[in-house]
Amino acid sequence: MKKIAVFTSGGDAPGMNACIRAVVRTAIHKGHEAIGIFRGYQGMIEGDFQPMYPYSVSNIIQLGGTILRSARSKDFRTPEGRAKAYANLKANDIDGIVAIGGDGTFTGARIFMEEYPDIKMVGCPGTIDNDLFGTDYTIGYDTAINTAMQAIDNIKDTANAHDRLFFVEVMGRDAGFIAMSVGLATGAEAVLVPESKTDIQQLIHTLNTNYTNKKNSSIVVVAEGDDAGGAFKIAEEVQKHCPYETKVTILGHLQRGGRPTCMERVRASRMGVAAVQALLDGKSGVMIGEVKGEIAYTPFSQAIKHHNAINPMMLGMVDILS
Ligand code: F6P
Repeated sequence: MKKIAVFTSGGDAPGMNACIRAVVRTAIHKGHEAIGIFRGYQGMIEGDFQPMYPYSVSNIIQLGGTILRSARSKDFRTPEGRAKAYANLKANDIDGIVAIGGDGTFTGARIFMEEYPDIKMVGCPGTIDNDLFGTDYTIGYDTAINTAMQAIDNIKDTANAHDRLFFVEVMGRDAGFIAMSVGLATGAEAVLVPESKTDIQQLIHTLNTNYTNKKNSSIVVVAEGDDAGGAFKIAEEVQKHCPYETKVTILGHLQRGGRPTCMERVRASRMGVAAVQALLDGKSGVMIGEVKGEIAYTPFSQAIKHHNAINPMMLGMVDILS
C-alpha cells in the first residue's frame, strides 16, 4: 500500500480527532505515508489533500470537532463527482482510505467501492447517534450523552425551582439511543423515541398522576426523530390537558461539541489503529466496530442497513423508575 488517507464526513463527533491521530500515527509507524483529506467527500472531489506527519496530529486527542473538517457532499452522490474523486486519489497515489463517519459516509463508500474496487476503504463509526449496526458504541456517543446529561441536570434545577414541566429534545433523527440513555441518567418521567409509537394520552395520564402525587417538576426527553412531531408540538398538546407550566428546550448542536470523554478517546484510538491494520491485512468495505469489548468487522452494506435495537428493558426501566 503506497499511501493511506483519512477523512471525516457527515456530522462531526467528539473523538474523531483521536481516531484521525491513531490512523495517521499507525500508518506512519507501519512504514506508510499518511494523507489527510479535508472536508470529507467534497475535499476528495476538489483534491483538498495534505500529507500528514506525526506532529500534524499533536495535541488534538482532547479536542472536539475534527481537524480535517467535515461536509455532507451532494456532488459525491453523482457519478461525475465520484469520478473526479477517483481521479484525484489515483493522481496522489492513494490506494487505502480510512473513512470516519456515519451511515451517509458508508453509503457513499459502498457505492464508490463498487465503481472503483482498486481503492480499498475501511470505516470507523463516527456519529453521536450510535445508530450503526456492528458496533456497541460509535465515536461521539459517550461524550454526547454526558453533555446532554449535564445540560438536563441544569434544567432540572430551574424546573424544580418553578414547578415546571420541561420537554427536552435531544439529537437522534432515526434512533433513540441518546434519548434513552440521558432519560435514564437524569431520572426523566418519560422518554420518547423513534423506535416506539408515542402515546400522548398515556403521557398526559402519567404526568397528571405525578402532579396529583405532588411531584412538582418533571422532565420528558424527546428524541428529535420521535413520531409525535417534535418537542414543541408535543408540549403544546400536553399543556392543554396538564396543570404544569410547560417549557421546551432543544439541546441541538451543543451535543455535538466538547472535549471527548476518556472512554471516547480510548475507543476512537483503538478503532483507528484497527482500521489501518485491517487495510494492511487486505480487508476492504468493512466498518470497524467494538462488540462486547472485541474489535469487529461489518460490511458497509450491513452497518448502514439497520442499527442495533433499543433494549425494551431499558425503556421499561424509565417507567419503573420515574
Ligand atoms: O448524525 C448526527 C446528527 O447530529 C443527528 O443526530 C442530527 O439529526 C443531524 O446530525 C444534524 O445534522 P446537521 O448538523 O447537518 O444539521
